[in-house]
Amino acid sequence: MSLLAIIGGSGFSDFPALEIEASRRVETPFGETSAPVAIGRLDGAEILFLPRHGAGHRLPPHRINYRANLWALRALGADRVVGLAAVGGIGARFAPLALAVPHDLIDYTYGREHSIYDGEQDALDHVDMTSPYCEELRGVLIRACAESGHPAIEDGVYAATQGPRLETTAEIARLERDGCDLVGMTGMPEAGIARELGLCYASLAFVVNWAAGKGEGAITMAEIESHLRTCVGHVRKVLGIVATA
Ligand code: HPA
Repeated sequence: MSLLAIIGGSGFSDFPALEIEASRRVETPFGETSAPVAIGRLDGAEILFLPRHGAGHRLPPHRINYRANLWALRALGADRVVGLAAVGGIGARFAPLALAVPHDLIDYTYGREHSIYDGEQDALDHVDMTSPYCEELRGVLIRACAESGHPAIEDGVYAATQGPRLETTAEIARLERDGCDLVGMTGMPEAGIARELGLCYASLAFVVNWAAGKGEGAITMAEIESHLRTCVGHVRKVLGIVATA
């Protein structure tokens, strides 16, 4: 039996739609997870849920223990992981409120524990990242978005930046020249570690602002939060379909 795990980000520090049946603290070789893993039912289907930023959205992107989080989900039996991602839109197609299922990424982060291979665990492997997301799960997400009435953009290159500050106009212009469509702060090392752990991982991104210099004037938290509220409703619908598919 396949078990789905959802890693919640901004807007998903908790998941009221989930009927929680148990909450597990998992010991991992990498230390503590962001929060205990919730085991529960979403529209009747069993799933795992873990808020990436911890309870109350306290952990900044560079302090998240990505290795522990993914290790714990696998230890509890997850084989498929959906990473939710509130993002800024760079490309013209990626306007606020768009849903997107990225197909590739570029990692601009630094100083994060980004690999399970630290010389102390298993023998070193250099995992293939030609297609960094699980194509099968991308397909499931794309179909679920269509079924939910909120069709997703079916591709996109995700830029993972360091944060927690937002980018400068010049930084976004550079990401655009690099071929990036979307920008967020947590997609890496999450996707890379998931691949190292043999998990089928894909991201469901929702655009909550135009990236720096792409909209008018400064980016405000009010704008982000207002878009986030709408996106959370759409994503919740999609996840119900994915969980019960
Ligand atoms: N940049 C980086 N991360 C983000 C953004 C952004 O504009 N919006 C939401 N997460």
